[in-house]
Amino acid sequence: MEIKDPRNHFSKENGALSGEKTSKTIRKLKDMKGFYEDEEAFNKMDPETVLYEVEMHAPVKAGTEGGLFFGTSFLNPGKVGEEFFMTKGHFHEIINRAEYYWGLEGEGVLVFMDEDGNASAEKVCPGSLHFVPGKIAHRLVNTGDTKLAVGACWPADAGHQYGPIAESGFGVRIKEKNGTIIAE
Ligand code: PA5
Ligand code: NI
Repeated sequence: MEIKDPRNHFSKENGALSGEKTSKTIRKLKDMKGFYEDEEAFNKMDPETVLYEVEMHAPVKAGTEGGLFFGTSFLNPGKVGEEFFMTKGHFHEIINRAEYYWGLEGEGVLVFMDEDGNASAEKVCPGSLHFVPGKIAHRLVNTGDTKLAVGACWPADAGHQYGPIAESGFGVRIKEKNGTIIAE
């Protein structure tokens, strides 16, 4: 029997993915209207500003029970007003599906929220490991001045439910005030 070469690779430095069945999603400022508190600052910025990119390896079809997806999110550094660049954030469509995140490069915060709106947050750094339980919304925030790279693995049937976060947010925002990173 032939022992085959690997079909996919990830960079040991920042998790960048290569190989078959990989794809990339780009999210720009214009995709996140209404997500940031300071609308005036938002409207002054270039809507084409790239906020983050997600590379994903999907060996099975979305929705496959028992399948797994693997991805790396790259968040650029920056702020809208006092609020750091962040992902949209979501609950999973099948809400009880859990997920792993791990820090690869840069400094950030992972914000969690349960279905009753109770929020909490954890620091993300190279080597940090984060278990996102089912029924918990999650959002990544880049609090550093360099790119934040974070790996993730989640069930292929989890899906993304963006509506509740787009409407009501996380109840907490990660900002810089007087040189300090705060959650308020
Ligand atoms: O599956 C995940 O939770 C991640 O891969 C996110 O989808 C990624 O970080 C982008 O965030 P969002 O989907 O909230 O825009
Ligand atoms: Ni998720």
